[in-house]
Amino acid sequence: MAGKIIGYGSYLPSKKLSNEDLSHMVETNNEWIVERTGIESRNISDPNVETTSYMASEAAIKAIENAGIDAKEIDLIIVATTTPNYVFPSMSCIVQRETGAINSACFDLNSACPGFVTAFNTAQAYINAGQYETILVVGSECLSNYTDWKDRGTCILFGDGAGAIVLKKNEKVECDFIMRASGKRGDCLHCESAMQDVEQTDAFKESIYMRMKGQEVFKFAVTEVPKVIEDLLAKIGKEAKEIDLYVLHQANKRIIESVSKRLKVDILKFPMNIQNTGNTSSASIPVLLDELRKKGELKEGMKLVLSSFGGGLSWGATYIEL
Ligand code: UT7
Repeated sequence: MAGKIIGYGSYLPSKKLSNEDLSHMVETNNEWIVERTGIESRNISDPNVETTSYMASEAAIKAIENAGIDAKEIDLIIVATTTPNYVFPSMSCIVQRETGAINSACFDLNSACPGFVTAFNTAQAYINAGQYETILVVGSECLSNYTDWKDRGTCILFGDGAGAIVLKKNEKVECDFIMRASGKRGDCLHCESAMQDVEQTDAFKESIYMRMKGQEVFKFAVTEVPKVIEDLLAKIGKEAKEIDLYVLHQANKRIIESVSKRLKVDILKFPMNIQNTGNTSSASIPVLLDELRKKGELKEGMKLVLSSFGGGLSWGATYIEL
């Protein structure tokens, strides 16, 4: 028994930031960004309107509509985010208010970029335990608030957006997962403070931006992601070729290509939208799932592996049947 995905939704801000735009902000150029990352443009939110909770709610409303259910049927909402616009209430309580899912329990979860996959696994565990039956899982991020627009090592990578899915208890589908973390390597990718409107020292100002040792994160990803997927396939007794689609965190095209090579699986089984979205952290997988659904590329009975990695360091892989 597991949760079957019965609805998909996403929200991307309309404002686009191109590589050309970035080349006027830092010393970079379109060729370098495309060659090293695969990114051509990303979406940047209007900070006064498109907050993390707003984007989460918009994606959630679409997912509930796509599921064709009454929001009152939802009994749990989990929002994965590292960039909440409030300390509290939780983003999930705001999503509950905006969707009318008045019968749901609510909590947020932060495990950086793998946040959506972690929330998805948490929801599956609740369904498997018989605790909840209909769960809304959302990944929403406003990374532009934490981007140092003078740091070319990070500002070219990230974008804003949100994605959501609805899970419903189903006797026929299967799901399994592995989650891992390495706290001692946390300094590779971190953001120390939430933004506050107070008089700021230089040290405080430094602490509000994302900082990343790009090469270390790259090496970690190309080593650990294929390994966790291989371990998951062994756990469920399936071969790599039996999986229809590998929906990976959209962080860098070269990372995805490397995972495809290592698993000896055709790159066509690794859908990508990173060229248009950049890295949207915990929103990247649900946004991509919604795009695939809209293009008619998700079919009943398909076998999917979702896998993500990022701050923590943390990473994981999930097997799900549609
Ligand atoms: O959600 C998880 C989050 N993070 C990631 O997944 C990031 C993983 N890492 C990466 O994607 C890559 O490491 C980056 C895309 C961030 C960087 O690519 P790289 O191939 O590892 O480049 P590098 O850091 O080794 O830098 C190569 C050169 C350096 O110049 P020198 O020392 O060779 O002269 C950099 O200073 O490229 C320079 N450089 C740039 N040049 C133009 C670094 N950033 C830029 C830039 N534009 N934006």
